[in-house]
Amino acid sequence: MNKLNHVAFIMDGNGRWGQRRNKGRNFGHFNGVKTVKKIVEKSIKLRIPIITFYVFSTENWKRPKSEINFLFQLIINYFKEELNKVISNGIKVNIIGKLNRLPKKIKIVLKDVTKKTKKNKRIIVNLAINYGSRDEIVDAFKRVKNKINIKSLSKALYTKNMENPDILIRTGGHKRLSNFMLWQLAYTEIYFVDKLWPDFNGKDFEKITNNFKKVKRNFGSI
Ligand code: IPE
Ligand code: IPE
Ligand code: MG
Repeated sequence: MNKLNHVAFIMDGNGRWGQRRNKGRNFGHFNGVKTVKKIVEKSIKLRIPIITFYVFSTENWKRPKSEINFLFQLIINYFKEELNKVISNGIKVNIIGKLNRLPKKIKIVLKDVTKKTKKNKRIIVNLAINYGSRDEIVDAFKRVKNKINIKSLSKALYTKNMENPDILIRTGGHKRLSNFMLWQLAYTEIYFVDKLWPDFNGKDFEKITNNFKKVKRNFGSI
């Protein structure tokens, strides 16, 4: 049976979920947060050591300002309401992505959350915010200078020494990676789910993890 160390999520479909209900895209984002909570809880129950959520891509700056601001405010509110629970549940929050371009307000919150959950050991939750895999790889090359090899580059990525994802789940029906973890996904089992992110639930997730356990992973061997 395959061991499960790391699951990554491209949580797509919030906008369509809100629009289908005639309540606007942001209503979908608001409900998407509920799914994040459910998936974190389920991951703890399933004893998964690391999970990663794609929250905001380097390309998402192309969206209307009002939607971008709403997304950032959602993150701020989430931690305002949940930080104590996050700490007591043993969740270590780690941010991957380029923090410097984010508004000061959210930067302060994210730094605080990272600091206050640093010693937690039950689960690592990576939030990919202003994350772009191409940027990440270019930055890694700059960091290693002339010492270019697989090991040095892996270590220079935002994910550092973390295990690569064993599973990637993308909801929302599109079968693409959208500049997410291009290096780290080299041997990941990929699951594309038609459900929109706010409709995705713990049961759907567990089905995937059960399927994954039985997959024959070859890594180029036979
Ligand atoms: C959420 O889904 C992804 C984020 C950028 C937060 P979308 O907002 O892309 O929803 P759709 O794909 O337009 O439905
Ligand atoms: C990917 O979703 C980014 C996040 C989930 C944060 P997008 O909705 O931005 O992807 P594209 O633009 O459809 O490829
Ligand atoms: Mg989308």
